[in-house]
Amino acid sequence: MAIVIRPGRPDEAALLSDLALRSKGFWGYSEKLLDSFRRELALSPSDVVGLRTAVAELRGTVVGFVTVDGSAPTGDLGMLFVVPEAIGNGVGTELFRHAVEVARGAGFRRLVIESDPNAEPFYRAMGAIRVGSTESGSVPGRELPLLEVDIVPIAAAPRTGPPRGRLTGGADLSG
Ligand SMILES: CC(C)(COP(=O)(O)OP(=O)(O)OC[C@H]1O[C@@H](n2cnc3c(N)ncnc32)[C@H](O)[C@@H]1OP(=O)(O)O)[C@@H](O)C(=O)NCCC(=O)NCCS
Repeated sequence: MAIVIRPGRPDEAALLSDLALRSKGFWGYSEKLLDSFRRELALSPSDVVGLRTAVAELRGTVVGFVTVDGSAPTGDLGMLFVVPEAIGNGVGTELFRHAVEVARGAGFRRLVIESDPNAEPFYRAMGAIRVGSTESGSVPGRELPLLEVDIVPIAAAPRTGPPRGRLTGGADLSG
């Protein structure tokens, strides 16, 4: 499957908000509960840019998106949603990997994830570690798994050529 990841556009705010709600519905939540999530899942045009939104496209159609928020050293993987029709096909993995690269580029050392309870196995499969629980911002009393993923900084470029200060090659320089 040829998934293209690209920056989200401000004019896609409504499309992405709808996508998030539809994706959340994949877990079988009631209409009432989905309605409680609606405000938290809504993106404004300025959010799309401010949250470093990246979208996944499949054959020209947006099938998912991810956001990376915050400032170094700790960022939030705030939203990661795949359309129900595409779930289970690797789109989430591509978006997650992209988010990690975005976080690395922004100098983050870790990403925090307030996970939907149903999505915890996915994040664990991505290497995230459960560090606790947090209360949902949408539904009072609803506990959400809190996970973290460490971001390894970009390593210093390896030096090429022989180490400095040492003669190599066995040449006889004595005489
Ligand atoms: C969570 C979500 C983004 C994962 O995206 P996805 O495209 O379905 O994930 P992938 O296909 O890349 O899965 C990668 C791996 O994660 C694991 N995984 C994914 N979903 C899983 C599940 N429900 N249970 C157990 N493991 C799961 C598997 O190991 C899988 O690898 P495999 O298919 O080779 O076995 C997607 O299910 C989704 O959008 N869910 C609804 C909205 C949601 O809850 N978003 C998260 C909000 S915090």
